[in-house]
This record gives sequence, structure tokens and C-alpha cells, in this order.
Amino acid sequence: MINPLKKVEVNHFTLRHPRVDARSAGMVIAHITDIHLGRWVKPRHVEDLSAYVNRHGVELAVLTGDYVGYDKRDLAPCVEALGALEAPAFATLGNHDHWASTALAEAAFSRSAVRLLSNVSEVFTSAQGRTVRLVGVDDAVTRHDDIPQAFAEAQDDLFRLTLCHVPSLGPKVAAAGADAILSGHTHGLQFNVPGMAKLLTTRLGIHYIGGGYLIDDTVLYVSRGLGSASWPWRYKASPELTFFTLQPGARPELTLEHRVQTSIAHPVSAHGRSRRMAQAALGAGDPAPLIAADDKDNTK
Ligand SMILES: [Fe+2]
Repeated sequence: MINPLKKVEVNHFTLRHPRVDARSAGMVIAHITDIHLGRWVKPRHVEDLSAYVNRHGVELAVLTGDYVGYDKRDLAPCVEALGALEAPAFATLGNHDHWASTALAEAAFSRSAVRLLSNVSEVFTSAQGRTVRLVGVDDAVTRHDDIPQAFAEAQDDLFRLTLCHVPSLGPKVAAAGADAILSGHTHGLQFNVPGMAKLLTTRLGIHYIGGGYLIDDTVLYVSRGLGSASWPWRYKASPELTFFTLQPGARPELTLEHRVQTSIAHPVSAHGRSRRMAQAALGAGDPAPLIAADDKDNTK
């Protein structure tokens, strides 16, 4: 059995933004995406993942879709396993969840403490008293996205943290008012063969492949996610779990504070720890990579 969580890159970022103020400063958020429970990812892996997140003192867990591969019978077990998360958790759906069964996915979340945000927003205040507005944009591949509806109630001045499975919606979601967007979907290309990312960017206009980007004043982060739908292997696109700490800043900025390569299923075997700092590159243009060049690749 292939254990997809045997080697996971865990990234800890500080996300600075002018719209983070005293109400939201210091909030610690875990971002989980693309679990793809099914042939290789099992409920016990999701429980291990939840336990790992629980050990990191997060105030909020956000999930950005693709809980399963293709089998609708996997929807409920995945959502139930995510119930092991101790922090309040909010989710949006991905294309695989809709392909499997929109109705069963929604039903699974309705029975769970994990709150599904499908084209809707709500104010979230953590147990520590920090507040943000969470906005959930549904999946664009299956055309369930409705950005105006998602932001309809987001008219206050709270920091708008947006969950959106498909990162190509980034510019539209940014224009609607997102201060930060967390996405998945790409798996960092999964097989990140040399030249592929450049080819996609230059020939096909696919810009948001993995890592941090700046779209005007909006931070977009694209996680490579944890699982795989069609095959278990990844090449230079290792599974990723991401943590963010919100802080005020004069400009939008994403700083990598801490990176760990670890086995989430067996935390005592953690290895290959590194600590690097990367300041944002805030050049004009759309999109702009937010992480310094030596950190934006996904080959670690
Ligand atoms: Fe996926």
C-alpha cells in the first residue's frame, strides 16, 4: 500500500496584508486540499493528518476541495475523518467531489462539524477571539462557481479569506474583493517535468501552478495538496500541507518561515528540516510570484 502521507512538505508562512488589523492579527490557519480519499488515501491517513494539524495550535482549518477521487462512496468517510480536526473547519468543494456526487458531498458536510461554504461567506471568530470573513467559492471546472453570490454579504471591512478550489479564478475572485485566496487543484502539475511549468505559462496562459502569487493587492496561494486521483506518483511535486499566520503589513507579503519534510503518518520520523526566510517580490503585473525564486519551485 502506498502511503501518500509518507513524505509531506509542511510549509509555515506569515501572510502580511494591510487589511489585517487588530481583529485578525495572529490568527493561525491550516490549509488542507486535494485529499483524494480512495485507492491510496484511506480514512486512517486523514485521521493522521487531522492529528498532525491538531498538534500545531491552529485556530482555523480550511479545506479547498477534492476530498475524493471518483467514487461517491468515499465522500462520507473522508468528511467523517476530517471531523477529527479540533479547530473549527470550513470547506469548499472541488471538481472531483461534484463528479462523484454533489448531493452526497453536501449531505456528508451537513452531518459534519466541518462547515461547507458554497458561494457564501460568513464571519468567523476563533476561540482566541480573532475574526476574519471567510468566503467560499464553489468549483469552476463543473461550473458551480458564483463569485458575486459568494461575496454578496462580504461588505464589511474584515479581512476576506477566500477558499476557492480552482486557482485560475484568482483574478476574478481578487476583483470581487478577496484579500487572500487559498486554492489547490493543480497538484503542482503532479509530474513537474522540467520545462512543463514554463510551457504552460507561456503557451497556454496557465499561470497559477503552485506557490504564492500576487494579483493586485490579493495574495493567492496554490497548494500542491496531499493526494492523487488517478495515479499515486508525483514527480517534483511532493504532497503539501500549509500553515499561515496572519499579520498586519504595509503591503501584501508572503514569507516562508519554516519548512519541514515529514511523514505525517509517523511524526517521530520527521526528517530533513530546513528554515529559510523568503521575502515577497512585489513587482507590478499580473500574476506576480510572491515567494523568492529559490523557494517558489516545488522540488523540495
Ligand atoms: Fe485534485
